[in-house]
This record gives sequence, structure tokens and C-alpha cells, in this order.
Amino acid sequence: MKYKGIIFDLDGVLVHTDKYHYLAWKQIADRLGIYFDEKINNKLRGVSRMASLEIILEGSTKNFSDEQKQKLAEEKNSVYRQYLEGLTQRDLGEGVLQTLDKLKTMGLKLAVGSSSRNAVLILKKTCIYGFFDAVSDGNNIVKTKPDPEVFIKAADMLGLLCGQCLVVEDAVSGVLAATAANMDCAAIGDAAKHKIATYNIENFYQLVEIVS
Ligand code: BG6
Ligand code: MG
Repeated sequence: MKYKGIIFDLDGVLVHTDKYHYLAWKQIADRLGIYFDEKINNKLRGVSRMASLEIILEGSTKNFSDEQKQKLAEEKNSVYRQYLEGLTQRDLGEGVLQTLDKLKTMGLKLAVGSSSRNAVLILKKTCIYGFFDAVSDGNNIVKTKPDPEVFIKAADMLGLLCGQCLVVEDAVSGVLAATAANMDCAAIGDAAKHKIATYNIENFYQLVEIVS
């Protein structure tokens, strides 16, 4: 097989939580009178909570203290977590369950490589936690994507070399992180439109052909 392990981004790849990130940030931005739309939201894909806030605040003329920023990030997370409460297996992307099952049967090691600090909660709520041999997330990294840290740590947790792993990403920042980690990358969703990845896929089922 071409790869020994696959590292999946979470939000916008495995689960449709990207829409909840958008709605939660939109609520904060609207209250602050900052313009925020789906195009700006695409810049937040793969980017940590605080780095996302900094991008949103670029749309304001006001200055915010570190304490105010901390509060805004907490507020966003609590709105976001309310959306997550209703999360079920129905929020998984199309073909995710069947493809994870197939890839596991083929003997591939599977990991999550996400900037989110809510990753384990989301994996458990959608009942896919058991598929993964490792979870590298916002709790074990210092640098956010496009830095390769989260993927390098995921490969390490799997006991594999970076070159043996394929990353699956919906974020431009994530594709850049995979490239910086010397990993091939399959882009889906927003990232696929930019044609900067090794593969551009339209659906999850195509992963089986890529790794075969
Ligand atoms: C990434 C999302 O997976 O996680 C970003 O694409 C988000 O939009 C980041 O900002 C951090 O998520 P969380 O759940 O820790 O706020
Ligand atoms: Mg993502």
C-alpha cells in the first residue's frame, strides 16, 4: 500500500462542525459590529481559537486587551459547545463511517490531527473515537497550522515516519502544514478549490482508491 497511516483533520473533514464554528464566531462578530462572512470564515479553517479571533478583530478599528480577547474566545467556545451538545453520528460527513471502517480493515493506522481543543468530545459524540489509534489536537500543540507540529506529533503517536502518512484536510492552512511536514495531502471541500494539495477529492470514498 502507498501509505501506512492516514491523519484526518476533524472540523470540516470528518464532521460538519465547521458550520457551528462559523455561527458561533458570527454571533460574536455581529455583537462587536465587525463584518464577518463565509469568505472570512474560510481563513479560520484549521487555525486555533485565539488566532481565529485575531483574524476577526482585524475587521475592527478598536483595540482589545489580552483579557478582553480571552473573554471573547471563551464566549465563542461556550456558544460553540452549545451547538456541540446536539451533535450525533448524523453530523458526520458523507461516507465517513463506511470509509473509516474500510481503511481500518485494510490495515491502515488512523489518527486525528486537529487544532481543536474540543476534538475528543466531538469524536465521542459522533461515535467514531474508537476508529483512531491516536489523537493529536489543540491540547498537545504549541503552534497552529500552517505549522506542521500537529501532524508530526500525530505520525509520531502512530509510530510512523511523516513520509508514510497521508493527511486529509479541508483547510488551506492544513494543506500547507501537511506539505511542511513532508506528507502527501488529500484536500476536500474549501481546500480542494485551491488545487495546492497532492490530491483533490470530492468525496470520502475516493480515499480508498488513493491509498490502494
Ligand atoms: C479547527 C477549526 O479544527 O479548530 C478552526 O478548523 C478552529 O476553525 C480550531 O478555530 C480550534 O477549535 P476549538 O474547538 O479549540 O475552538
Ligand atoms: Mg478543518
